[in-house]
Amino acid sequence: MHFGILTGGGDAPGLNAVIRGVVVRAESGGHKVTGFLRGWKGAIENTTVSLNREAVRDIHTQGGTILFSSRTNPKRIENGLERIKETLKENDIDVLIALGGEDTLGVADSLGEMGVFVIGVPKTIDNDLSATDYTFGFDSAINNVMDAIDKLKTTAKSHERVMVVEIMGRHAGWMALYGGMAGGAHVILTPEKEFDTDEVCALLKKRYEQGRRYAIVAVAEGAIDPGLARHVYHSAETDSFGHVQLGTGIGIGEVLKNEIEDRTGLETRHVVLGHVQRGGSPSAFDRVLGTRLGVKAVEIGESGENRKMAALRGTEVVAVDLSEAVGTLKTVPEEHIKTAELFFG
Ligand code: F6P
Repeated sequence: MHFGILTGGGDAPGLNAVIRGVVVRAESGGHKVTGFLRGWKGAIENTTVSLNREAVRDIHTQGGTILFSSRTNPKRIENGLERIKETLKENDIDVLIALGGEDTLGVADSLGEMGVFVIGVPKTIDNDLSATDYTFGFDSAINNVMDAIDKLKTTAKSHERVMVVEIMGRHAGWMALYGGMAGGAHVILTPEKEFDTDEVCALLKKRYEQGRRYAIVAVAEGAIDPGLARHVYHSAETDSFGHVQLGTGIGIGEVLKNEIEDRTGLETRHVVLGHVQRGGSPSAFDRVLGTRLGVKAVEIGESGENRKMAALRGTEVVAVDLSEAVGTLKTVPEEHIKTAELFFG
């Protein structure tokens, strides 16, 4: 069999582990692998690279993706999906493995509907993809958030300051909640639960009055106080999948910092963690998860099951329907937020 592979959307630590998993498992099954560069862009423009075991040696230890990535949306390009079909035909690809989040896998599913043999692998630091317990990249990213909070605590304590930490997550607060819990943030604000800045300020003042004269406020970039602007957009620009671009200018972190300082008089600083969260080498968990998902993707291809995704369910890597993954975003359940709230203040 001839497998095609591409990586789309924001990069995530573990992409290279999946690529290596696919190539090594494919070679051992007597198959060929061709990579398409820059996500769907490469599949439209027919930009390819031939992959073998030598090309992927040890890449699982590196962050990013050796295939490059883009947010190209073929549905916004004239005959985009048809052109991908043509490219696959020209290269004699039997099965296309797409590594991505909701957007990339949504395109894969549409190609599947058009008769292309597609398999998805769930990638996103946001962990907001349905049909899998975890996406790869999330574990590495929350470790980065945790490290940042650990570091911010020592400087916050020394200066008796409030530190507002803005964390990625436009629609789902997994990273803010898990990274915040791991780092021991004193308030965590997620897009799933609207917050009230006055309540945050009251909690901070109480904390200072009780002698704990510093605080970390972890806020997801998509968190909303309806009393402030409905959404604090960083940019009027949207990407080709229609998402507003957060994290590149004045966002909720800075707005909240100003409000806290004005309303409480407490000295406050803010930090936008931004793309640091996605960078660096993958955690052990993501290296192993990525490897297992890559191997499984080839096995699904061999089984002949179309429009599936390799997913983590409990401790097992299984095949699920691709449509199940792209239907609805997986947001943080109320129970998780309640657990975190026990430790606020
Ligand atoms: O990968 C998802 C994500 O990290 C979001 O949490 C974030 O808002 C977005 O990507 C940033 O995208 P870009 O890399 O295009 O700035």
